[in-house]
Amino acid sequence: QTATSFYEAVGGENTFHRIVAAFYREVAQDEVLRPLYPEQDLGPAERRLRMFLEQYWGGPRTYSDERGHPRLRMRHVPFKVGPIERDAWLRAMRIAVAEIEPEVLDNAHRQQLLDYFEMAANSLMNSPF
Ligand code: HEM
Repeated sequence: QTATSFYEAVGGENTFHRIVAAFYREVAQDEVLRPLYPEQDLGPAERRLRMFLEQYWGGPRTYSDERGHPRLRMRHVPFKVGPIERDAWLRAMRIAVAEIEPEVLDNAHRQQLLDYFEMAANSLMNSPF
């Protein structure tokens, strides 16, 4: 018998797919975030974030199989991430998480996820302005 991962506990692939799809739907409409994405097609970026989050929370390790060590700070160096960008990122992610029903994502797991996103977004800031 193995312990249930966070990934499984919140609905697995379907839940991560929904959160990240909703997040990029917001990015596409966001005047702060959209210009940061170099590619016209947000699809590949959506897939990379989904794979990363699935792996982080105990799901499939496809991200590292394809991309190697995450090194997220290094991978964000090309983009200016100051307080405005962080806030925009978190706003989009909070909207995305809020779309997952409480039957799928209970309050304790929801809080854990939101706390993680806040910590991660703060840690990826690379500009004071
Ligand atoms: C990549 C912006 C925070 C995870 C990217 C990219 C941009 C970006 C422009 C390039 C898109 C691409 O992959 O082609 C930002 C901004 C943030 C932020 C403005 C504000 C704080 C975060 C956070 C996480 C994250 C908090 C994780 C929880 C990733 C991942 C990639 C990525 C996994 C793909 C890395 C790879 O190339 O494998 N981000 N990001 N980002 N971001 Fe962020």
